Amino acid sequence: MKVTVVGAGAVGASCAEYIAIKNFASEVVLLDIKEGYAEGKAMDLMQTASLNGFDTKIVGVTDDYSKTAGSDIAVITSGIPRKPGMTREELIGINAGIVKTVSSNLIKHSPNVILIVVSNPMDTMTYLVHKSTGLPKNRIIGMGGALDSARFKYRLAEALEAPISDVDGMVIGGHSDTGMVPLTRQATRNSIPVSEFLSNDRLSQVAEDTKVGGATLTKLLGTSAWYAPGAAVSSLVQAIACDQKKMFPCSVMLDGEYGLKDICIGVPIILGKNGIEKIVTIDLNDAEKAKMQESAVGVRATNDLLEV
Ligand code: NAI
Repeated sequence: MKVTVVGAGAVGASCAEYIAIKNFASEVVLLDIKEGYAEGKAMDLMQTASLNGFDTKIVGVTDDYSKTAGSDIAVITSGIPRKPGMTREELIGINAGIVKTVSSNLIKHSPNVILIVVSNPMDTMTYLVHKSTGLPKNRIIGMGGALDSARFKYRLAEALEAPISDVDGMVIGGHSDTGMVPLTRQATRNSIPVSEFLSNDRLSQVAEDTKVGGATLTKLLGTSAWYAPGAAVSSLVQAIACDQKKMFPCSVMLDGEYGLKDICIGVPIILGKNGIEKIVTIDLNDAEKAKMQESAVGVRATNDLLEV
């Protein structure tokens, strides 16, 4: 199993590290445009192999796509992250050009690759990859909901004063501060609805804290987060590489599901060796449906800024 990670910055390197530590891939190629940067990150990570007990070979390259040839999965994290006070949407100008070039280079050397798009604004970048590459729908996946759901579970566990492993919950919709739809009604603690334990006000607060989860960290760190994004990407890569048939909310091209068409937005999917094995339709009530439609309006407004 060969995985390429484009962008050896904060998220790309964290993602490569988690993939290596999970020890399911034979090779991870880390590629960056900055001379020597990916080579340095790869060497540093390889020097953790004996300490962390993995055999995955991590290779760093500067913009040489021939070294990525034959990749089964490729992750696109190249681009600029947001600074405090910025929205993800403001990154579109620079990142669209980067994502378009990178995806085309990847496919040239790995025609069967499954692409995971991370660069922001992620839903729009995923849409751009669809429109510019023409790859089959099952092979283009945007990562956002897996991270947002992990942040939701963190906030739920905090409110419930419960271990994280006791809680479950999912965030669908667009990967933006206003677009996320945390499904509080379906969230559980040991399979019991969390509404049994938390007031409506407290649950609304959990949902709000989840939606600004990225912005909260950007303010604290001065740049966007990397551990949880890297871990979330590595979980998607593992689900595909190990054919886990596991459910994650991801940004995928919809064709009528959830009443939406010609848009990439977060919905639950089953991930396995073919990439998207299935789009899962969950029952939403009217309020949840309305939030999803509103979220789609926001994503489409950003898509409209693209010159595809
Ligand atoms: P970073 O600045 O640490 O790393 C980005 C790397 O991309 C840099 O090393 C840069 O040299 C490289 N790069 C730029 N243009 C390139 C090109 N044409 N080819 C190859 N490499 C290139 O940024 P960070 O924090 O790693 O974030 C990366 C992206 O991921 C940002 O757009 C950020 O907003 C996004 N992000 C998305 C998340 C999600 O949930 N979808 C979560 C966190 C970040």
